[in-house]
Amino acid sequence: MLGAGTFSPLQFVRSRLEYFLKRNGVSEEQILDISIGTTEAVENTVKYGDGDLVEVKYSLDKSKVFRISILNQVGEMNLQSDIERGKFSSTATLMRGMMVMQKLFDTMDLDIIDEKKQALFTAEKKLP
Ligand SMILES: Nc1ncnc2c1ncn2[C@@H]1O[C@H](COP(=O)(O)OP(=O)(O)O)[C@@H](O)[C@H]1O
Ligand SMILES: [Mg+2]
Repeated sequence: MLGAGTFSPLQFVRSRLEYFLKRNGVSEEQILDISIGTTEAVENTVKYGDGDLVEVKYSLDKSKVFRISILNQVGEMNLQSDIERGKFSSTATLMRGMMVMQKLFDTMDLDIIDEKKQALFTAEKKLP
């Protein structure tokens, strides 16, 4: 319930998304994939975002392509420490979450918009 200590935005995004997909006739198997991928991406906004507003948008078009975009602000500190650790270089570290998401979506991207200090995650999945 909103306002209660147990309210979880992460759970909220997931249930809304699953309901949306179910209502649009997407199979349980596909729903699970999209849900896991989305949860990973939203988790990152919690870990690396500035703790403020996160914008989640998704759609399913007539040719059954699912699209999602997730936008968050990046804290100044986070950005600097990530650059220092070399996260954004080609010799990147593990990036386990990214690898999982790459498997679950057909295409996937994370844009760090430096001057705006924003991170934009986008992904697509063609449904059978
Ligand atoms: N929403 C985001 N905002 C800012 N940075 C992000 C975001 N998502 C991912 N990143 C960066 O990309 C890296 C890789 O993400 P991920 O593979 O999920 O690894 P992990 O979450 O285990 O660090 C993160 O460590 C972080 O530096
Ligand atoms: Mg992660």
